[in-house]
Amino acid sequence: MTSSDDVAASRDGGRPRVVLGVSGGIAAYKACELLRRLTESGHDVTVVPTAAALEFVGAPTWAALSGKPVATDVWSGVHEVPHVRIGQTADLVVVAPATADLMAKAAHGLADDLLTNTLLTARCPVVFAPAMHTEMWEHAATRDNVATLRSRGALVIEPAEGRLTGKDTGKGRLPEPGEIFEVCTEVLARGAGDLDLAGRRVVVSAGGTREYLDPVRFLGNRSSGLQGYALARAAAARGADVTLVSANVTLPDPAGVKVVRVETTAQLRQEVVAAAASADAVVMAAAPADFRPTAVSHAKIKKASDGSAPPIELAQNPDILHEISTDRARSGSVIVGFAAETGDDTGSVLELGRAKLARKGCDLLVVNDVSGGAVFGSPDNEAVILGADGAVTDVPYGSKTALARVIWDEVTRRLQD
Ligand code: CTP
Repeated sequence: MTSSDDVAASRDGGRPRVVLGVSGGIAAYKACELLRRLTESGHDVTVVPTAAALEFVGAPTWAALSGKPVATDVWSGVHEVPHVRIGQTADLVVVAPATADLMAKAAHGLADDLLTNTLLTARCPVVFAPAMHTEMWEHAATRDNVATLRSRGALVIEPAEGRLTGKDTGKGRLPEPGEIFEVCTEVLARGAGDLDLAGRRVVVSAGGTREYLDPVRFLGNRSSGLQGYALARAAAARGADVTLVSANVTLPDPAGVKVVRVETTAQLRQEVVAAAASADAVVMAAAPADFRPTAVSHAKIKKASDGSAPPIELAQNPDILHEISTDRARSGSVIVGFAAETGDDTGSVLELGRAKLARKGCDLLVVNDVSGGAVFGSPDNEAVILGADGAVTDVPYGSKTALARVIWDEVTRRLQD
C-alpha cells in the first residue's frame, strides 16, 4: 500500500477527521468549547497545541475532551511519523486561536513543531481563526501574512470586534466557538479549496424592521433572521467579505462577518444602500416593514377614558430592493430578493413570485410559500428560485443552511469578473 492509498483508506467511511490546532493566546480556553462541539457532532478530532498554547490550557484538558493523546513536538510516537501523518489524513485543519506568530510561521513555511509541520503536510481545507490585539492584527507584517495565506487558498476568518484581554476593546477577538464550528461544518460540507466567493464583497440583510408608535410600542413582523444569518455564514465560509445588516435579530454574530444593527426600514435602507455601493452581490433576506406611522409620539400613548382607540395613520416605506435593483451602484452586481407569498385570487404563489421579480427588477427571487406561517422561526425552508434570465431552481424542503448554499451557487454563477 502506498502512502496515499493508506491516507485514502483511513478516510473511507469514517467520521470526518479534524485537526484542531491551538496556538498560544488567551482565547485558547474558547477552543475547548469548539472541540466539544466538534466531537459531540461526530467528528474525529486530533488536538495539536503549540507549546505556548499549553501555557494557557494544559494537555490533560485537550486529551480528555478529544479522547486522544496530545503532542506538541515531533518527538513523541516518532515511529508513526506524526509530523506527516496527522496533516495527510485530515479532512479539515482549523487553527483557533491563530496568533500573529503562528500565521507568520505558516505563511513562511516554517516547521519547528507538530502544528506547523501539520500545516505543511495538510492537503485539505485549512481555516485560521485569528485572535490578537488590534495593533498586531493591523500590523503590516500580519496583513501580508494573512494575504499570503488567503492567496494560497486558506480561509482566514476576520476577527470579531469587542473586548480584548485586559481593558482594551477593538478588532481582534476570537469569534464565538459555536460560530467557528458553523464555519468548519460548512467548509467540510463543500470540500477542498472551494472558496469561490474569495475577493468578493457581499451584503445580506436579515430580520424584521420595527416602526415605532411611541417609545415602547412598534409595528413589527415575525421574521427571525435565521435565513439571513445562514446566508451570511455560508458566504463567509466561501471566502466572501460579508456585511450583514441586521434588523432586531437576537442570534449570535456569524464568524468573520461585519454586523451592522438597525431597527427601522429607513435605517435598513441607509445601511444597505451604502454597503451596496461597493458590493458584488446583495441579498435582501430581511422583512422590512412596508408602512410606518406618520407620527411617532415621544411620550407613551395613554388610553383614552372614553374607551376609544387612537387613530394610526400610516405612510409607505421606500422599497429598498427595487431601489438598489433599478439604480445599480455597481454594474454586474447580482441582486437577490425574497418573496414570502400565500397566493390569493389574483394568482398562485409562483405567479405572484414571477410578477414580483419583474416589478422589483432584481436578478433572482427566492419564493417561499408561507401559507401556514411555517417558515417563520423554523430552521427549515422550501423554496423556488426564479431568475430574471428565466431560470427556475426548485430547492426541496431542507435546512435554511442548505437553501443558503443553493442561493450562493446561483449568485456565483451569475457574477462577472
Ligand atoms: N423589500 C424591500 N423594501 C421594502 C419591502 C420589501 O427591500 N420596503 C424586499 C424584501 O427584503 C424582499 C422583497 O422586497 O427581498 C420582497 O418582500 P415582500 O414583502 O414580499 O414584498 P413587497 O414589496 O412588500 O410586496 P407585497 O406587496 O407582496 O407585500
